[in-house]
Formats: sequence, C-alpha cells, structure tokens
Amino acid sequence: GKVAVLLGGRAAEREISLKSGAAVLTALCRQGIDAHALDVDEQILSRLQAGGFDRAFIALHGRGGEDGRIQGALETIAMPYTGSGVMGSALGMDKYRCKLLWTGYGLPTPESVLLRGGEDLDAAAALGFPLMVKPVHEGSSLGMARVADASALRAAWESARAYDALVLAERWIDGAEYTCAILGTTALPVIRLETPHVFYDFEAKYQADSTRYLCPCGLPPTAEARLRELALAAFHVTGAEGWGRVDLMVDHAGIPFLLEINTVPGMTDHSLVPMAARAAGLDFETLVWRILETSFD
Ligand code: DAL
Ligand code: MG
Repeated sequence: GKVAVLLGGRAAEREISLKSGAAVLTALCRQGIDAHALDVDEQILSRLQAGGFDRAFIALHGRGGEDGRIQGALETIAMPYTGSGVMGSALGMDKYRCKLLWTGYGLPTPESVLLRGGEDLDAAAALGFPLMVKPVHEGSSLGMARVADASALRAAWESARAYDALVLAERWIDGAEYTCAILGTTALPVIRLETPHVFYDFEAKYQADSTRYLCPCGLPPTAEARLRELALAAFHVTGAEGWGRVDLMVDHAGIPFLLEINTVPGMTDHSLVPMAARAAGLDFETLVWRILETSFD
C-alpha cells in the first residue's frame, strides 16, 4: 500500500519533525515501500484521501501531531496510523496529567506544582530550590529552565508561558539522566545522557558535540532491568502503545524518577530510539519497518 509520512506541521518542534520525517521516508523508500512525505496543514485529510494513501506514518512532534489531534482526525477517515491512539497521545503530551497518573499508580516522579497563575509561585517555591520549570505541553526541552532560587522563578515562568499557558515547576533531581525506548511491548537497552550543560537542553539534544550517549548505560544489569520495567509500566499506564520513549533520572542514592514519555520521539539518524534499536541489533530501516507495522492492527 501507499504510505504517507506525516511531518512538519505548525508545532514549535516543526524543524525536528522535518528531519525525523525525512529519515523515515528514506528508510521506507529504501525498502521498496511507496512512501511520500506530506507536510501537515488544514487540508491534510482531503490530501490523504485524494492521494489514495493506505496508512500514515506519524513523524510529527509536539502539539497537533503527537497529542492525539491528528490521531483523532485520522480515525474519522478510518486511516490506519503508527503508534499511540488518541488517549495515549493526549496524555503523553501532558506532563502534568502523566505525573498524576504515575503517582496514582505508585510510580515515582518528581514532586511538582502546576503554575496556572502568579499565585501558584509560592506553592512552587515551597517545594524547595533548585526547581525545573517547564511548559506542560512541549517537547525538545523548549521553554525549560533550571531555577536556582526564588528570585528567578517568575522570569522562568514567564519564559515557559511563551510556549504554553500551563507550566509545571518540578523538584530538581540531582543525578544522571537516562532514556528508555519502547518498541511494541519491549523496552530496548537504556541510554545514559551526559552533557556539560545544566541539563539535557535543546542545544545538548540537537547541536552540541559535547553530549555523550552511553549504551550500554553503565548501570548494573539489575538496575537497568528495573529502569526498563519502570519505563514499560509508565508507558502503558498512560495508554501509550506501539513505540515511544520514556525519559528518567536516577538520583545519587540510585532512586529512579520518571520525567516524561514521548509517543513520537525523534527519528533522525542521531536520535535516541534509533541508537537503542541499534544496540538491540535493529538497524534504522528495520526499526522504521517495525514502527510501520504498529499501524497494521
Ligand atoms: N520531542 C523530541 C522530538 C523527542 O522526544 O525526541
Ligand atoms: Mg518530550
């Protein structure tokens, strides 16, 4: 059948999506699949129907494409698509409600306060400093800042609000950052991220040469196995499915904390899910095929 690779869109992560989509398109075409890139706009449903497409490979990051909206739109025209459905996508894009769900399920995540207005800043400060301030519905670390003390909290909130009306202030975890890719019902090998930056920010993700990726991640096997189990549980309890990536921290006492899930993680050839897949013996083309398969049922 004919595959539409949905990319671009209007989200803040548009440029990253264009790269992910281009890499996916190349991998599909190399396998002899009739695949075409479609930059998503208001006419996307009619373009899919007029183009005679059989399924959609979603390579959209952020709001509009990773948050259940395009998934719901595709449901209305009965077009099969890759990855999570409407609810898993919507929850995955909402860092606040993910945390509520995990907490309710007994899974560890840093304490946080939702900043709806200036009056919530005091409650955030009561968590203690440093804090991580982040837009609730954003990706690629856009709008995020580490806040060292109360004097910098309002400015960080204002910056994050440029991306999203809802902002989260989260207790800062001192430790190491890890990520765990999910494919089907399997957690792939964990990657450890090391950056000289204050945290794994946009530049460390996409631009800096100084970011180091360790896979194997250096944890003892039992500790890595625990992280993989935690990642799988965190992913599935939100209703996410097919494939994705779970980001975590481990503090200096060895205690893990869930940060967030990504239901359409980056798929450039430098991205983390392809790196984890490689460590599991899956090359990029095989990975892309396996993701396309998530649209089959
Ligand atoms: N939001 C970016 C694309 C990621 O999670 O990889
Ligand atoms: Mg994310």
